[in-house]
Amino acid sequence: MMSDHEKRQSTKLVEGGRRKEWLGRLVNPPVERASTILFDSVAELSSGQPGLGEYRYGLQGTATHWALSEALTELEPGAAGTALFSSGLAAITASLQSVLSAGDELLVTDSVYGPTRKFCDAILKRFGVNTRYYDPLIGSRIAELIGAKTKAILLESPGSLTMEIQDVPAICSVARDRGVVTLLDNTWATPLFFPAIAAGVDITILAATKYVGGHADVMIGTATATEEHFQRLQRTSWDLGHAVSPDDAWLASRGLRTMAIRLKQHQTSALKIARWLQQQRQVGAVLHPALPDCPGHEIWARDFKGASGLFAFQLNGDPAAFIDRLKLFGIGYSWGGYESLALPVRANRTATKTPAERLVRLHIGLEDPHDLIEDLERSLASVD
Ligand SMILES: Cc1ncc(COP(=O)(O)O)c(C=O)c1O
Repeated sequence: MMSDHEKRQSTKLVEGGRRKEWLGRLVNPPVERASTILFDSVAELSSGQPGLGEYRYGLQGTATHWALSEALTELEPGAAGTALFSSGLAAITASLQSVLSAGDELLVTDSVYGPTRKFCDAILKRFGVNTRYYDPLIGSRIAELIGAKTKAILLESPGSLTMEIQDVPAICSVARDRGVVTLLDNTWATPLFFPAIAAGVDITILAATKYVGGHADVMIGTATATEEHFQRLQRTSWDLGHAVSPDDAWLASRGLRTMAIRLKQHQTSALKIARWLQQQRQVGAVLHPALPDCPGHEIWARDFKGASGLFAFQLNGDPAAFIDRLKLFGIGYSWGGYESLALPVRANRTATKTPAERLVRLHIGLEDPHDLIEDLERSLASVD
């Protein structure tokens, strides 16, 4: 499934952000820890603009942060820059804050990550922003929901629990015609499998905690934006005081270099296991974007360059008991690391009709898939 585009992306992953003036002779950026940065004179202190390559104050980052930002921007053709955050959720909330004002309305996919929904319903509401949820399969019919107050649309494709794939280009095209800003949580696909800015998205967000970090040992988020939106996004993040530890930026840079090869293996193993699950009598629908049961599968086939390691399936039995019997799958939040995980899905939805009962979500890690299949088989055998 790897195309020429991804070969170029793989090279960018290795080369991106490794400027000699930032790294010196080192292969990886050094961890530059700083709050205070010293200037030669008051005139120097008061001159210049913060940005990549400009030492000013710890909040605006050091070479460790710039190398990561630049590498991520290069993966999104058409992007102007990338702001870094202390978690994926912080990247989402600050990006929303950069575009919304009191009195605005926000449209959010009903399949959105739970804590994002909580932020919209609790905090944005307190600041005078109203959120309405839309069916992730709405496509260009989103036009019917856009009103005079609609300022932004937040997409997530696929939804990270119920896996619906959205028609991102169609939604973004309608939004652009109506002057509405689009933001996408692109954590599942990453720019390797879905270059979002080229698809028409204004601000694309990664919980880099997942596949960028790749080793379940770092919390970090990123937001990459077009020229029109980047300065305001970056300014908002600094005005809100968002800072990322250089150690975490360094870990994310280190993870990023191997992301293509890891994703390739996540893809191969997850598809093998998803296809195996389709054959099991205790299993109903397998919600893997590369398989026909998944809502929006045909859009995945049209738009995506690959599939990562996260998918869900419907179990004809009790998900909790099934998961408790697994030996190789960990039980825990997050995904995108080298280890396999299983969780029962508890979807909180209002506008979507696709069923979400008795779903198990799997993240397929880098273990041998045959061992994972044996583990699943053992536990399925006790499902009646
Ligand atoms: C789709 C999605 N977006 C965002 C996040 C939030 O990322 P973080 O855990 O880094 O805050 C998660 C975390 O699970 C997620 O699954």
